[in-house]
Order: sequence, then structure tokens, then C-alpha cells
Amino acid sequence: MKAVVYNRLGGPEVLEYIERPAPAVAPGQVLVRVSVAGVNFMDVGVRQGLAWNDLPFPRGMGVEGAGRVVEVGEGVSGFAPGDRVAWVYAPGSYAEMAVVPADALVPIPDSTDDRTAAAIMMQGLTASHFATDFYPVQPGDVALVHAAAGGVGLLLTQIIKHRGGRVIGRVSSAGKVAAAKEAGADEVIVDADGDFAQEVLRLTGGEGVHVVYDGSGPATFQGSLDSLRRCGTFCWYGPVLGGPEHLNIMSLPKSIKLGYGVYRDHIATPALLRERAAQLFDWVKDGVLKVRIGAEYPLADAAQAHIAMAGRASIGKLLLIPA
Ligand SMILES: NC(=O)c1ccc[n+]([C@@H]2O[C@H](COP(=O)([O-])OP(=O)(O)OC[C@H]3O[C@@H](n4cnc5c(N)ncnc54)[C@H](OP(=O)(O)O)[C@@H]3O)[C@@H](O)[C@H]2O)c1
Repeated sequence: MKAVVYNRLGGPEVLEYIERPAPAVAPGQVLVRVSVAGVNFMDVGVRQGLAWNDLPFPRGMGVEGAGRVVEVGEGVSGFAPGDRVAWVYAPGSYAEMAVVPADALVPIPDSTDDRTAAAIMMQGLTASHFATDFYPVQPGDVALVHAAAGGVGLLLTQIIKHRGGRVIGRVSSAGKVAAAKEAGADEVIVDADGDFAQEVLRLTGGEGVHVVYDGSGPATFQGSLDSLRRCGTFCWYGPVLGGPEHLNIMSLPKSIKLGYGVYRDHIATPALLRERAAQLFDWVKDGVLKVRIGAEYPLADAAQAHIAMAGRASIGKLLLIPA
């Protein structure tokens, strides 16, 4: 089978498209034929050494996808060959076949196609976590959403709007404004350098926003703090781009609450994963969520997808399609 692997850490050039044997299924695992693999910003970080460093080289790239069950390992119940499934947090998903822990699998309902299912796993669960668990958005709340035309950003915007909030989006270039607005953003600020807080304050009559969702690195951190109203909430979530080098807790202003939102806390058990994925599929079926596929690449061109995402050129979800 074909797979995308890397033998060393580094830039997109370390990704190799190779032929390798299909992985053997172990107890508790399921072998799947991948129809669609999702690209996440996390993959860029993993390629650089942010996670999975305990795995031997060559390491399989990618953590998310959709496809069909081929074989179930010992002790697995609830899945059978032929079932349509999606998953998140299974290394080696950029491949024609992958072994996935059964606990990381969700059934795909007939109402949802594979592309949508793959697209919504990590970014949809993240957006759902942020707007319902981390800071349960209330009607009338104003939220600042960074990278608002990205995978997480478009879904987060839609969920906040569904809950009755108002969204101020920030995007790095004018070409991304229409996508953020289509997702429901009430206002969109174009800024690539972290110079947005004055405009947020102007748009909120000087008050600031109730909640900031910021995974955009050190350049936006101070502006996000400055954009919050008293007792507001700062959801920081971007380990790939990082945050401030040092943070003096006594420098945090206005009684704000600051935390690191992690999507895995939304799906801490297989039951929660399946319940929350089912909620996303229902939202898609009911038209609450529209999943925007920004681009599809052949599996062999995974490096191109990474270049587009890290180069701030992508809008919505990027997918890889095995031949
Ligand atoms: N904590 C969690 O549980 C969790 C889960 C999933 C994702 N994430 C994080 O969420 C963020 C979005 O992930 P995603 O997969 O949905 O990707 P994405 O938003 O589709 O793509 C990444 C976006 O980040 C912005 N960006 C890229 N390079 C940048 C740079 N050097 N400086 C500043 N901004 C840059 C760009 O938006 P603009 O050009 O518009 O700024 C780009 O579109 C990432 O930070 C990712 O690590 C966190």
C-alpha cells in the first residue's frame, strides 16, 4: 500500500510517499481502508517534533480520516468489516490502509459522506469543545475568533452563531473575508501582524469581547488580552505556533480567565467521542454546520497541503485522497 511517512523531523520536504506493507491489526485495533485523510495544523507541528516522538522512524503522518473497516482485532466489538467509520488521533492516517484503536472510531451515519466526516473530526470536535465546554457561549455574547477562515475557525464561528453569539473574526488577508462572513462572522478584521485590538474595542463600543479563541501564536497574544472585557475568557489553543515565552500571572488584566483548550478533553472516553461526533453529524444534516472543503490533494501531494496550510494560503479543510 501507499503511505506518507517521514524519517526525520523538519519541513514539508521530509514527507515521503512510499510503498510499504499494510499494517497488521493488533488486539483492540481495527484495520481500515482510508478513503479520505484529513490535514490538520497539528500535522505540521508533529512533522516538526511536537508530538508522537516516542514512535520509531519511519513514522506515519496524519491522525484523522474516514473509510471502511477491513478487519477487526481481537477483543473489538461494535465494528465489522464493511462498516463506514471516521476517526481522530490515530497516527499513520495519511495512507491507503491504517490501523486505528477501536476506541478512536465513530460510525458514519448514512446522511454524512466520507469527506465531510473526515473533515469534521478534529476541527469540529475542537470547535464544539471551545464553544460548549471551555466557554459555553450564551446568546448575546461577543467572541473574537482568530484564523476565522481556517478549519477550526469556520466551524467555531458557525457553532457560536448557532448558540446566539456574535462573532468578530480575524483573518490575515482580504481573500479570506468572504469565507468567514459566509460562516456567519458579523465583522471580519484583516490583520496579519497582531494589530487588531483597537478595532475590536471600536466594534464593541469600548467594552471588549466576552471570549477570545486564539491559536495564532505570540503575535496575537497581547492583542487578544487587550480585546477582552472585564472577567472575559481567553481560550488559548495553538501549541504549533506557540504563545508568549513567559507569562507573569500578575500581569493578566481585568480578572480574565485564561486557559489552554484541548479538544481531547471533549472526548475523554469513547462514549463521549461517539456522542459528540454524532452531534456534529446531526448539525451537518440539519444545516447548522456547513463543512467547507478548501482543497483536495492526491495522497502523494501531502507536502503541498502542508505548504498551503502553514503558508496561510488555505481556507477551510484540506483533504488527501488515496489513489
Ligand atoms: N488545542 C487543540 O485542541 C487544537 C485542536 C485543533 C487545532 N488546534 C490549533 O488550531 C489552529 C487551527 O488549526 P486548523 O487545523 O484548523 O488549521 P487552519 O486554521 O485551517 O490553518 C492554520 C491557520 O493558522 C493561521 N496561521 C498559519 N500560519 C501562521 C503563522 N505563522 N502565524 C499566524 N497564523 C498562522 C492561518 O490563518 P490566518 O492566515 O487567517 O491567520 C492559517 O489559515 C492551529 O493553531 C492548531 O494548532 C488546536
